[in-house]
Amino acid sequence: MLTDHDKQEIQAELARTPSRRGALIEALRVVQRRAGWVSNADVVEVAAFLGLPVSQAEDVATFYSMIFRQEVGRHVILLCDSVSCWVNRADALLTHLRSRLGIRLGQTTADGRFTLLPAACLGACDRGPVMKVDEDLHTHLTAEKIDRILESYP
Ligand code: FES
Repeated sequence: MLTDHDKQEIQAELARTPSRRGALIEALRVVQRRAGWVSNADVVEVAAFLGLPVSQAEDVATFYSMIFRQEVGRHVILLCDSVSCWVNRADALLTHLRSRLGIRLGQTTADGRFTLLPAACLGACDRGPVMKVDEDLHTHLTAEKIDRILESYP
């Protein structure tokens, strides 16, 4: 259910955006920042609030990989698996992350702390391998650096 705060943030986005459709992705991000993910009910509510067809909201929510359509852990790790990171051994780091967290891609740790997801290019190809944890970009990754990074997210 959209909170009053959600509605205020979406209204603010509408004031900055020339079209309701243009505000859609940010409206979904507003919900995700609060709830951690975007449920089907959220998509319906966002569409209604913006006066758009549900199908349009669903298309956008499904298209963008950064909109999570399933419940996720407290922190979401997005490990880049695009070409530049891959040639810099992102695959070895994926193996390390899987072992360290005890999960596979797409899963959440038993304590609900981390969800591990693949990501297309995160826009820092010259600093790979790269991952995001929530909104934080981490570059020049090594296994040791990943261990330190994980410790900093409670
Ligand atoms: S390929 Fe990984 S950030 Fe671009």
